[in-house]
Amino acid sequence: MILVAGSRGMLGRELLGILDGSARGLARQDMDITDRESVQRVLLTLKPAVVVNAIAFTDVDGCESNRELAFRINGDGVRNLAESSARIGAKLVHISSDYVFDGIKGKPYLEEDPVNPLSVYGKSKLAGEENARINPDHLIIRTQWLYGLHGKNFVETMLRLAKERKELSVVDDQIGSPTWTVDLALAVKALIDRDCRGTYHAVNSGSCSWHDFAAAIFAEEGIGIQLSPMTSAKLDRPAPRPLFSVLDCGKMAKDTGMQLENWRDALRKYLKARKGDHGNR
Ligand SMILES: NC(=O)c1ccc[n+]([C@@H]2O[C@H](COP(=O)([O-])OP(=O)(O)OC[C@H]3O[C@@H](n4cnc5c(N)ncnc54)[C@H](OP(=O)(O)O)[C@@H]3O)[C@@H](O)[C@H]2O)c1
Repeated sequence: MILVAGSRGMLGRELLGILDGSARGLARQDMDITDRESVQRVLLTLKPAVVVNAIAFTDVDGCESNRELAFRINGDGVRNLAESSARIGAKLVHISSDYVFDGIKGKPYLEEDPVNPLSVYGKSKLAGEENARINPDHLIIRTQWLYGLHGKNFVETMLRLAKERKELSVVDDQIGSPTWTVDLALAVKALIDRDCRGTYHAVNSGSCSWHDFAAAIFAEEGIGIQLSPMTSAKLDRPAPRPLFSVLDCGKMAKDTGMQLENWRDALRKYLKARKGDHGNR
């Protein structure tokens, strides 16, 4: 059995759907990742073969002012899972982030490239990676710029702002790969099915700036808002972000035969899916 920890989160809910009958979800009330005894008790009772950790404190700016909590959830919590999963001989699949990199390489990052997180969130996610490795059977999957049906995300924010405003400025000096949670969940499944171990990158292919991403959302939806570029310095968010954090997914392609579709194709499918989803409510 595969246990999905964080099954009420944006990725967790997608994973539960895609892993289907083989998976069971755990929400915060079933297991608080920061409570070592609770983690131990749940894993010893359920004895899963695989534990997928989709839990995190994901408010990147909020982490700057809540450093202790960020490390408790994103760092120490992963140690709790790694120790308990190792004890029962289960594989630990841990989701990590492009924010472990500083973004100055100028080329897509390989799994073995040196890490150098800029923000508290990135540092706490790096601590999580280090702790995940306590379990020798670990699979760390770094991803970025997620959006999906089950959580707050950039696409929904843009669509909401387009209803409220006639003009919008979006940063154009951060480059990454927008990634649909459905495609990421399929990648997680493929990596588990092949019993892959170690660190992998998994994102939709191609890359763009947040400004390009916003422009694509508005173009796909036929929204005529006036969109202009702005710099990260002007936006002045509490957490510094890497400027170029595109992730090279060649290792996943080599080991699973899987390459995720282009981000623009994925966006088109998501926009269609959300209409169906909203229509069903
Ligand atoms: N979103 C992105 O753009 C992005 C980019 C790169 C990497 N990632 C990584 O991808 C993974 C999934 O992200 P996501 O966007 O799906 O996150 P999300 O929607 O914020 O979900 C995170 C989940 O973690 C749960 N959680 C938080 N603290 C907990 C605790 N102490 N014990 C148990 N559960 C707790 C939350 O529970 P509640 O619902 O009860 O609060 C929530 O369901 C994370 O590892 C994240 O770092 C995300």
